[in-house]
Amino acid sequence: MNTQILSGSDESHLDLFVDSLRQGLPIAVPTETVYGLAAPATDESALEQIYKIKGRPLNDPLILHIADPSWLSTWATDFDPGIVAKLAEMFWPGPLTLVLKKQDQVPDLATAGLPTAGFRIPRHPDFLEIIQRCRVPLAAPSANPFSYISPTRAEHVLATLGGQIPYIVDGGPCEEGIESTILDLSNPEHPKILRPGPIASEDIAKVLNTESLAALPKKPESHAQLAPGNFSKHYAPRKPISATSVGDRHPFTQKDALLFCRPAQKFNPQGPAKSFNLGDPSDIRAIRRNLYHTLNSLDADTSVERIFLVDWPNTFNDPGLDDRVRRALSQG
Ligand code: TXA
Ligand code: MG
Repeated sequence: MNTQILSGSDESHLDLFVDSLRQGLPIAVPTETVYGLAAPATDESALEQIYKIKGRPLNDPLILHIADPSWLSTWATDFDPGIVAKLAEMFWPGPLTLVLKKQDQVPDLATAGLPTAGFRIPRHPDFLEIIQRCRVPLAAPSANPFSYISPTRAEHVLATLGGQIPYIVDGGPCEEGIESTILDLSNPEHPKILRPGPIASEDIAKVLNTESLAALPKKPESHAQLAPGNFSKHYAPRKPISATSVGDRHPFTQKDALLFCRPAQKFNPQGPAKSFNLGDPSDIRAIRRNLYHTLNSLDADTSVERIFLVDWPNTFNDPGLDDRVRRALSQG
């Protein structure tokens, strides 16, 4: 199959995208977090395609993308409308996924057999327009092969899923650059963060009027994966990647890529390796935006053999970014 990258803001392309989805052919779409691989949540054979294209295990549930909070009354059930309305008001459209009890019409395939489903309203206008026109939730995992780093630009999707989907909707670079924060509200007494992300748990706790939120349980609670964190390796590049310090006097070569997080005035690359500055450590949003982009580009660059994170802090005091860096480094 020939994969076309087409601008999402061009009206004449929208019919092509929606026709493809109606025919059950998944397409890649931009969101503010990462690019997604979308299909109508009601079309089981299209959902099967998503799992097949990604090589994703069937026990890993998908997120359903909706266009308006009012859609929840059709697809979710048994939730506290007041709490959901407050969260929606504060964070939607945006990088927050709410796990709620699902209605029966959400196919089990979308939720890996779980009685709950993850919902979010994405902020990217091109994707929102496509959801509006389809009039049903679009299931969309990140548009990458299973366990690989998520794509944050159209060209990243092309590099790994090219030839398997008809269209990649080009909406430019993703503004957030890491996957959404997932909040489990299926037990209203015990809201839990299942995956840290761009929206801080402290900000969610304020809206919920609680002191703090329970974090992800250490062990999966059922056969279905409750969050990607339960897989030991996730979001990792294919090339060897490790953390090091310049003090270690590593004999870097021109086939090495070194990633720094430095204030611009302190970034003075020397030596034969290719060096990149992902941003000032005080600018978490810049580092989040650059992390997957840089890793995707380096993985695709045939002149690079090894990737090093040089002198990175042990923590950015940002659970979402810390989590993705830790996973990128985990090669196990
Ligand atoms: O930012 C994002 O969330 C992106 C964009 C495309 O929206 N999507 C994304 O999807 O990261 P994915 O499939 O890569 O990760 C979805 C994760 C699943 O692995 C699972 O852990 C969690 O969301 N999830 C989905 N439904 C769930 C449910 N019913 N209960 C618990 N966790 C769920
Ligand atoms: Mg993913």
